[in-house]
Amino acid sequence: MRTRVAIVGAGPAGMFLAHLLHLEGIDATVIERRDRAYVEGRVRAGVLEQGTVALMHRLGVADRLMREGLVHGGTNVALDGKLFRIDMAALTGGSTVTVYGQQEVMRDLFDAAEARGLSIVWDASDVALSGIDGDRPHVTWRRDGVTQQLDCDFVVGCDGYHGVSRAAIPRDVLRVFERVYPFGWLGVLADVPPAEHELIYANHERGFALASMRSPTRSRYYIQCALDEEVADWSDDRFWDELCLRLGPDAAAKVTRGPSFEKSIAPLRSFVAEPMRWGRLFLAGDAAHIVPPTGAKGMNLAVSDVTMLSQALTEHYRERSDAGIDHYSARALARVWKAERFSWWFTSVTHRFPTMDGFDRRIQMAELDYLRGSLAAQRALAENYVGLPLEAA
Ligand code: APR
Ligand code: PHB
Repeated sequence: MRTRVAIVGAGPAGMFLAHLLHLEGIDATVIERRDRAYVEGRVRAGVLEQGTVALMHRLGVADRLMREGLVHGGTNVALDGKLFRIDMAALTGGSTVTVYGQQEVMRDLFDAAEARGLSIVWDASDVALSGIDGDRPHVTWRRDGVTQQLDCDFVVGCDGYHGVSRAAIPRDVLRVFERVYPFGWLGVLADVPPAEHELIYANHERGFALASMRSPTRSRYYIQCALDEEVADWSDDRFWDELCLRLGPDAAAKVTRGPSFEKSIAPLRSFVAEPMRWGRLFLAGDAAHIVPPTGAKGMNLAVSDVTMLSQALTEHYRERSDAGIDHYSARALARVWKAERFSWWFTSVTHRFPTMDGFDRRIQMAELDYLRGSLAAQRALAENYVGLPLEAA
């Protein structure tokens, strides 16, 4: 088998890239370890930057997004129970974000992939990359007991943090930068109306809380928890009580309680691998970088990576120029690091760190009090939250 671009992984990075290349008429095949139901079933964040929404329109996969996505022009911050709103649209000349779950995005991408006949191999085990430092790269895998090989011009590693692609870059070339946070997020989904029509990011002495949503009838809530906590120890009642305490009395009065149908704990991590290109291998999305979920940048970063990469590959095939390919890693990393900075900052000012002393706590309170009172500080948050522009090509 032969294709131009072999894409490892059918998460957001891999599927957005597959559609982008299809639009440009560049032949590609996606090789995914799991099946569609698994990939679509994973519960992830659900805030789309303006650029992500624009890309879904460009790819012709935005019909349901337009009908069901919730456009938010602002967001709320709570400090010890007192709420203030940041008018992101007013501060950014009209930019907004759209609340639409990653699961919905994946469903739309897979439905359109089927309709357009994009090539996806599901249930591929033992995926391995070879020849990426030469000019004849290929990907091999096993399926139904048979080994398959795909020859290609380029391999794109979109296989997430635990994938195999990043490890194909030699150890003396790859540099990794990492922060592991001393807490996790306990997340709950429940079919109850959201407390507020926009999100609430709450810094409370007992820890962070976030009120988010999936639709007018489905809420998504999170509370910061210790890493050694077990989901089983969090009954719905205990969760609602703790959430309400942290959001403060005004927001708590608007919380509708109900049975949860999903409850899980996720650790928080900042991680960047450099470079994002080695020979004929490119990395995109979580394969190259992880952000803590505060600010919901994960999927949006995958989208900006593959947007830049598809431009570089289009330039390669159309104009026979490798300038874009050679520039991809530096260009993508420039935006990645700004999103890393924002996600780290937003996490740092909203969470309770176990080592925090009185000084740290007061600095945090001063930071959020400054945010409450300064339109300049709010604008800095707003322009990062709605999504920074792509770096110049
Ligand atoms: N071979 C083939 N596929 C693999 C392999 C492998 N060895 N290892 C992992 N995969 C697949 C996974 O099953 C998954 O479907 O690669 C995909 C990676 O998807 P994500 O982890 O979602 O990564 P990415 O597409 O970069 O998404 C970035 O979306 O899911 C969120 O938290 C993620 O917000 C981040 C964003
Ligand atoms: C979510 O709805 O899952 C969500 C929203 C905002 C975030 C993180 C997660 O910052």
